[in-house]
Amino acid sequence: MAGKVVSVSSVNGGVGKTTTVLNLAGIYSLMDKKVLIIDMDLYSGGVAVSLDIKNKKDIFMMIDSMANNRFTTLKDYVTSYNRSIDVLSCPRDPREATKIESRFIPIIFDLAKKEYDVVLVDTHHVLDEINLTVMDYSYITLFVLINDLVNFKNMKSLLSIFKDTDKKNYLVLLNNSRDTGKDYMSMYDIRTMIGGNIDYTISRNFYIKNIDKYVMNGEILTLNKSINTFHSGDISHMKKLALDLIDDSHMKEEK
Ligand SMILES: Nc1ncnc2c1ncn2[C@@H]1O[C@H](COP(=O)(O)OP(=O)(O)OP(=O)(O)O)[C@@H](O)[C@H]1O
Ligand SMILES: [Mg+2]
Repeated sequence: MAGKVVSVSSVNGGVGKTTTVLNLAGIYSLMDKKVLIIDMDLYSGGVAVSLDIKNKKDIFMMIDSMANNRFTTLKDYVTSYNRSIDVLSCPRDPREATKIESRFIPIIFDLAKKEYDVVLVDTHHVLDEINLTVMDYSYITLFVLINDLVNFKNMKSLLSIFKDTDKKNYLVLLNNSRDTGKDYMSMYDIRTMIGGNIDYTISRNFYIKNIDKYVMNGEILTLNKSINTFHSGDISHMKKLALDLIDDSHMKEEK
């Protein structure tokens, strides 16, 4: 099996990365794809808690075993959420986050690609060495953006770096569901402000008032029947996004 690594990142925090990762994982699992979520938000990751899984192992333990020749298989370090979704969680002890060296990232990705169809990587929003390495070794990166001036300004800087470095394997998702009062800027204005394209939009209709209830229950929104019924427009848009992310047309950029 040669799975694809899809990372989800942003230029500002709190824009909906983790929610998007979980929603995509749900969609891929409905497509019968085997999914591994890797929580690379090393200091403050929220994947395990959002899925209400009690993981005994984490990414630091895996890397520590590799460095000390104790590592045998990825399976020993992942925790299962359902039949098709596994999680490799961020360090349970945040003090271990700083010990994670970026050289292990391609090794982990290669192991994961052998076992899973899609490897979804949640990140934090700082463009540090870990995040740059994650992006470098991703098949594609999805940038989540909210309708916010500071977010647009930072996105513009990043997109100009991508243009200078000829980086093309990314898509931009505008998330209007996180902060519904902030979708006043027109798409034309946003494109002008970021100096690039918006590939996908989650509408303000997808604002889930009682989202914490789902988080408390460890539920994935896209696997919930009533959410699928009431938000069918946004759900089918997310399905298109999910397919586009793993489309073979991005193959040239793969490392
Ligand atoms: N569709 C939605 N409806 C209501 N609230 C939402 C929605 N999507 C995200 N949120 C809320 O917005 C907040 C930020 O979302 P999330 O944690 O996914 O962002 P993030 O980019 O991963 O944040 P961080 O940078 O801290 O990791 C959370 O409290 C989440 O519950
Ligand atoms: Mg997050």
